[in-house]
Amino acid sequence: MDHDETGLSTTEIAALARRIDRPVVLVGMMGTGKSSIGRRLAALLHLPFVDADEAIEEAAQLTIAEIFERHGEAQFRDGERRVIARLMDGERKIIATGGGAFVNPETRALILAKAITVWLDADIDTLVERTARKDTRPLLKSGDPREILTRLREERRPAYAEAPIHITSGRGPQSRTVARVLKEIDAWL
Ligand code: S3P
Repeated sequence: MDHDETGLSTTEIAALARRIDRPVVLVGMMGTGKSSIGRRLAALLHLPFVDADEAIEEAAQLTIAEIFERHGEAQFRDGERRVIARLMDGERKIIATGGGAFVNPETRALILAKAITVWLDADIDTLVERTARKDTRPLLKSGDPREILTRLREERRPAYAEAPIHITSGRGPQSRTVARVLKEIDAWL
């Protein structure tokens, strides 16, 4: 049988793809790898991939940093809520959300009702290391990133924990996390 990098056969992945009947939404902290894992999942399942942060930037015609700078976080959150509501149209796709999206009770309820929700988590060292690679996250600029990430991770944990599927992405190869997401979705459906 034809095996790919996840250790799952293409036949198994195709069978799972046929059973996925709604959007798959990845939630969790900045730096857990939601976007890159989402892209890989989408490629394997032959489904479209949407990065919610990119959709917000497109709608606003501004980068996230510019939205925070010019309009403030409250306005960003409002745009985020509207964009995610628009994305919850029942179409099969993989959506990576920004780390704060699922914390909004309205957005969380909508995602839980309409999608297969996967919480990606990682330890603090991993989050610090991964977020240090990009300089585009306004929330990490107001102080020590490790402290901010530690606080946000604790504050947000109860919200993220409402997701029915919970995966911790470790330091190992990303294909292992992708395989675990696929297996957990399969078991949940
Ligand atoms: C945020 C996470 C970011 C982005 C914005 C705010 C957050 O997305 O939406 O900077 O509140 O955690 P990523 O989780 O993709 O970094």
